[in-house]
Amino acid sequence: MKNFEYYAPTKVIFGKDAQMQTGSLIQALNCKKVLVHFGGGSAKKSGLLDNVFASLTAAGIDYVTLGGVVPNPRLSKVYEGIELCKKEKVDFILAVGGGSVIDSAKAIGYGITNDCDVWDLYDGKAQATGCLPIGVILTISAAGSEMSNSSVITKEEGGLKRGCNTDYARCKFAIMNPELTYTLPQYQTESGCTDILMHTMERYFTMERSMEVTDSISEGLMRTVIRNAKILMKEPQNYDARAEIMWAGSLSHNGLTGCGSVGDWACHQLEHELGGMFDVAHGAGLSAVWGSWARYVYKTNAMRFAQFAVNVLGMLNDFSNPEKTALEGINAMEDFYRFIGMPTSIREMGVELTDEQIHELAYKCSFKNTRTIGNFQILNMEDIGKIYSMAR
Ligand code: NZQ
Ligand code: ZN
Repeated sequence: MKNFEYYAPTKVIFGKDAQMQTGSLIQALNCKKVLVHFGGGSAKKSGLLDNVFASLTAAGIDYVTLGGVVPNPRLSKVYEGIELCKKEKVDFILAVGGGSVIDSAKAIGYGITNDCDVWDLYDGKAQATGCLPIGVILTISAAGSEMSNSSVITKEEGGLKRGCNTDYARCKFAIMNPELTYTLPQYQTESGCTDILMHTMERYFTMERSMEVTDSISEGLMRTVIRNAKILMKEPQNYDARAEIMWAGSLSHNGLTGCGSVGDWACHQLEHELGGMFDVAHGAGLSAVWGSWARYVYKTNAMRFAQFAVNVLGMLNDFSNPEKTALEGINAMEDFYRFIGMPTSIREMGVELTDEQIHELAYKCSFKNTRTIGNFQILNMEDIGKIYSMAR
């Protein structure tokens, strides 16, 4: 087990009607003026926003609003938010939505507290020194941004999707009412389940050998997500299944399943370029490349893939031929993705990649051929191009 630090400071308020506590939670933080940040309309349509406004008003908290955050949240909206918050002297940002709204809120929070152009924090030109406090009312279980240190923003010019990871942006609180996810379209629900799984898989595929507690937590979490993702295909309003998925979403990306290992994250880097260039749903982009990544790298540590096949996917306990068991597991995982309506190739997302586009994706993903990605197996620009070709 490698040395690690585990830091998960976000207060979680979980369960039915949890959103009614919004006003009092912000009051307790001594904040006076809130930006309520939201997406394209789901929170308005469901009546959630009205509940939130009522809770703020009851607590005597003033607020302004900014909606219109889109999936793969855009830098231009972040600039709009920064300007509004400065003008209105906002001292707290409340994100009502999913990963995109939360990440946009975090970026606005950075933009207010750091003197540089906020994009400099995302493309590595500057380091953040603070962030306005953020709170979340979660409406989709997926990205895990409600407890992660991460924020991912897309710059329209050049289609660049980049992340900024610091503890300054950890949310002060996350309100999680599984009922708020009932209205999700099935594709978004399952894309979210895929992302949740991948946040643990990215940490699970490691060369580290001794991490029994972390492995047990991770394998249990992955089995739980797979089981409940299937239930939600038939019963989208099953509270227990929604609740399991929602809690798994936070635990999968708050660092818990990575204690003692070095994460891989290659699939996330591969997806970020697809999201930046083609605006695909994040979870779908991950399932589209995962099988190709897995087949490209599994021989590096076939035993680890075999362990995944047996302990997570229930394959026959055959460690005498780990490569065979590993491949059976990869096939079974792709069968699962198909079962929940997720793509296992890029074409299935409506994107027909040309050879030039594969080159561009690999060039961007390797930061103009200046970095490698992955840790399970380190991948250079050529490897990245080959995986995109396999996944096309
Ligand atoms: O905009 P609205 O109308 O709300 O619709 C959204 C959106 O179209 C809809 N939705 C959300 N809650 C709903 C709902 N529709 C009906 N009922 C509800 N209750 O779902 C769509 C997707 O929302 P989005 O926020 O984009 O989803 P997700 O949570 O998957 O976030 C994806 C973004 O997070 C980034 C991804 O790259 C992507 O940009 N990630 C952020 C991470 C982090 N900050 O830690 C880690 C992840 O790996 C990921 O990269
Ligand atoms: Zn993700």
